[in-house]
Amino acid sequence: MCPVLLVLLGFSGICTGDFSPPQFNISLDLPPEERWLSIADHYDKDYLKKYAEAIIEKFIPKWVHKAISPVVESLENYMPQPYAGEMRGASKGFGCSLADVIVLNLAYEITAFCTSIVAQDINGNLYHARNMDYPFPAILRNMTMDILYVRNGQVAYRGTTFAGYVGIWTGQSPGKFTISGDERSQGFWWENAVAAFLMKNTPASWLMRNTLEEAEDFQEAVLRLSKVPLISDVYYIVAGVNPGEGVVVTRNRRGAADIWPLNPLNGEWYRVETNYDHWTTPPPDDDRRTPAIKALNAIGQKNITLDTLYKVISVHPTCNRITIYTTVMTAAFPEKYRTVVREET
Ligand SMILES: *[C@@H]1O[C@H](CO)[C@@H](O)[C@H](O)[C@H]1NC(C)=O
Ligand SMILES: *[C@@H]1O[C@H](CO)[C@@H](O)[C@H](O)[C@H]1NC(C)=O
Ligand SMILES: *[C@@H]1O[C@H](CO)[C@@H](O)[C@H](O)[C@H]1NC(C)=O
Repeated sequence: MCPVLLVLLGFSGICTGDFSPPQFNISLDLPPEERWLSIADHYDKDYLKKYAEAIIEKFIPKWVHKAISPVVESLENYMPQPYAGEMRGASKGFGCSLADVIVLNLAYEITAFCTSIVAQDINGNLYHARNMDYPFPAILRNMTMDILYVRNGQVAYRGTTFAGYVGIWTGQSPGKFTISGDERSQGFWWENAVAAFLMKNTPASWLMRNTLEEAEDFQEAVLRLSKVPLISDVYYIVAGVNPGEGVVVTRNRRGAADIWPLNPLNGEWYRVETNYDHWTTPPPDDDRRTPAIKALNAIGQKNITLDTLYKVISVHPTCNRITIYTTVMTAAFPEKYRTVVREET
């Protein structure tokens, strides 16, 4: 047995799975304002209020929050449907102010640390895994939910998100493609985001949801994710259903800075993206990339499956104490979509 694999097995105990998040349906046949109401009934409103306040306090100084609330509320007029309506509905359902719901939806845009992996086995099957890391794991662990977006009684697409969060960072269009988004760091996020918003640029997680809703296949999904103007930089990781359909798109606000596809014929059967450009070296104090690569090489392309990929992405510190959830998915077998909320350590 190879020593690397032994190390891997030793490590796998550190980041354990804890529970599956609740699963809800959102009916796309309902008006956006009504979609979150039945979900909100499952949550304790006082707890949610405290959670919203705690997170906002971390992001934004109190006086700034007071000053921007009226401005933020007027942003609603610039927001496309269904997002404006769903946020209004979430605000009603969860008992938070509309301004706070909007701030939270925009704030998530820039604070998520993540790892995403796309891999292809020797038979050409594609697998996709992601960790969602966040600075407030204790609060967000029990705000995590899997949502089926249902139209005419059919699952149009599904995703993993947080209570009241209307975008999607992890999602699947059944039989077509899967997507995850990882933050790409930047300064002055708030000012830039608002400015870009007024120019009708899209939040990165809304473009993901639009793509899940509208794109017909992997090619079209990658094209949309590469082109549509955004309010912030981001990495998009996409996997399809045909051999070779795996890619990391590095986004600037205006368009793609880089497109990095799988190249299985050349032995490049996986791509790992954390929160640093793939052509740079990650900082030694936040290298979640190298352990994942070592684990992938130890497993090998012959043995990669959704289960072994789950083990890969669970290796420390790729999975770490602020990892909130892990999702594994494969668009060709949509029923295999699985999210595990990680244990508090
Ligand atoms: C989340 O956890 C907190 C404290 O652990 C608890 O009070 C709250 O009821 C939980 N919320 C949900 C929706 O389970
Ligand atoms: C969610 O929607 C799917 C597809 O229509 C359906 O099979 C399932 O029973 C629904 N689940 C709930 C809890 O309503
Ligand atoms: C693949 O896994 C099997 C069983 O888990 C193991 O016996 C085999 O050595 C592995 N192959 C490689 C190439 O690691």
